Amino acid sequence: MAEHIVVSVENKILTLRLDRPEKKNALTRGMYMGMIEALKQADADSNIRVILITGTEACFTAGNDLVDFANAKPGETSPAILYLQTLIAAQKPVIAAVGGAAVGIGTTMLLHCDLVYAASDARFQLPFVNLGLCPEAGSSALLPELMGQRRAAELLYFGEPFTADTARDVGIVNTIVASNELLDTAMEKARQLAEKPPSALRITKALLKRGSISAIADAMVKETEQFAALLQGPEAREAMMAFMQRRKPDFSQF
Ligand code: COA
Repeated sequence: MAEHIVVSVENKILTLRLDRPEKKNALTRGMYMGMIEALKQADADSNIRVILITGTEACFTAGNDLVDFANAKPGETSPAILYLQTLIAAQKPVIAAVGGAAVGIGTTMLLHCDLVYAASDARFQLPFVNLGLCPEAGSSALLPELMGQRRAAELLYFGEPFTADTARDVGIVNTIVASNELLDTAMEKARQLAEKPPSALRITKALLKRGSISAIADAMVKETEQFAALLQGPEAREAMMAFMQRRKPDFSQF
């Protein structure tokens, strides 16, 4: 199994835990590959009925590793896209348990999870514009559909962290619980689903997703093209350098 990914199976539930706390669970190429492998294993194994994605106690994930972003080669297929495609294709219910920071793909991947439970300390953020980038994961289609154009614009244009209450108000989160109850709550929900008739559950999931599949795929094609170009551009370079040098970025020259 990949470094920084812990996978366990118990009571027909596959739990995928992001485990790179020293870097706030920022997702590396290797971690995406490990997550893809776990999701595929879950779909292929008839003993697994539910997938639970979580982070460490203090953090869900700080999103894509910014050093990997800075080193991305032009024309290279992003492992994040492969991960998202696998998550979107998952046939079994996916539950996310989110505590602490959920940044970038840490928030957008939740749009593809079936149920999201958040700790009261969870902080979500869509900082793409601030990084000289644009939305990904089909979020340019899903966010306005979920919460309306204005609220989506506010979260994306300013890219500021928002609370679990806001995330619940805009439809990203189902329920907020105390931090120390997060995993138990999500696990209990997973256990309940694992006892349901599996075909009925899978077909219900497929039917729920049917209406949005082509809109998401279409958005992802357009987003990926723009994202890849922006990632190689000067605005993203300045934003990544500023993060690594722990300074405020300066976009006045563009
Ligand atoms: N990629 C690579 N490293 C990251 C990272 C990321 N996305 N997010 C955090 N880290 C690293 C920091 O560089 C730091 O490493 P160091 O201790 O070797 O200097 C370590 O994780 C701890 O981060 P720090 O910023 O000190 O923690 P914090 O609690 O003050 O803040 C965050 C946590 C998540 C709010 C903050 O780290 C952050 O904003 N990260 C960037 C998120 C981001 O822009 N992601 C990309 C989305 S597209």
